[in-house]
Amino acid sequence: MKTTAISVNHLRKYGENMKIETYENDEAVSKRAAELVEAIITNHQQPVLGLATGSTPLGLYQRLIEKYQANQLSFENVITYNLDEYLGLAKTHPESYHAYMDKNLFSHVNINPKNIHMPDNDANRKQEIVDDYNQALAKHPIDLQILGIGENAHIGFNEPGTPFDQKTFIVELDEQTRQSNARFFDSIDEVPSEAITMGIKQIMAAKQIVLIATGDNKAEAIKKTIKGPVTEDVPASILKTHPNCIILLDKAAAKYV
Ligand code: PGA
Repeated sequence: MKTTAISVNHLRKYGENMKIETYENDEAVSKRAAELVEAIITNHQQPVLGLATGSTPLGLYQRLIEKYQANQLSFENVITYNLDEYLGLAKTHPESYHAYMDKNLFSHVNINPKNIHMPDNDANRKQEIVDDYNQALAKHPIDLQILGIGENAHIGFNEPGTPFDQKTFIVELDEQTRQSNARFFDSIDEVPSEAITMGIKQIMAAKQIVLIATGDNKAEAIKKTIKGPVTEDVPASILKTHPNCIILLDKAAAKYV
């Protein structure tokens, strides 16, 4: 049975094409996101997923694991690309995105490790790791890109001011981003100050984009994204120009839209 939205809106102005679905709570949002991912996995011989980290997609990954465990979904042919990774953190560090993906999805499903792509994070080889990820991304067009959104409206680690035509690059993290991610570390001093991220150009190249936002703290970023102009100061605002982008919100994140 399909998850029911409280409301569905379409932004269809000149150059804008975005579907906004609002759900009762975080759980319903995760359920809907899982339905969208499942549709891609079952309808493609070699499905290519773009994946995000952070607290937002945890419910989605949990549902996908449950579907796999119930023999309703196979990851055998799934190819994945992650958005980003901290620099200067061992891949085994529990807060690295390598460790996150392993813990919250990959180690629980039948994905082929060869099909997993994550940006390397060796701070001594910055140019090489950027070039390598650009090359890896060029191999398989992404069918569905999952995104969260930062309180400053970043997507991946594309912070405000990032050019829309940017490919993979090394980013100096915003103070706001470091502060909001400090909750995962013992103190803010431990939050890395640099990261590697897929660029906005590569995010926009995905055939479909699903951005998930839940909670009060995302309401302002969602308002700017949906109601404001398309501007590099609000990285997520570019998504309004994507041909197939769905925004999934809970009531709290949708409070100004
Ligand atoms: P969060 O992060 O899911 O932990 O809120 C989202 C993001 O910064 O993109």
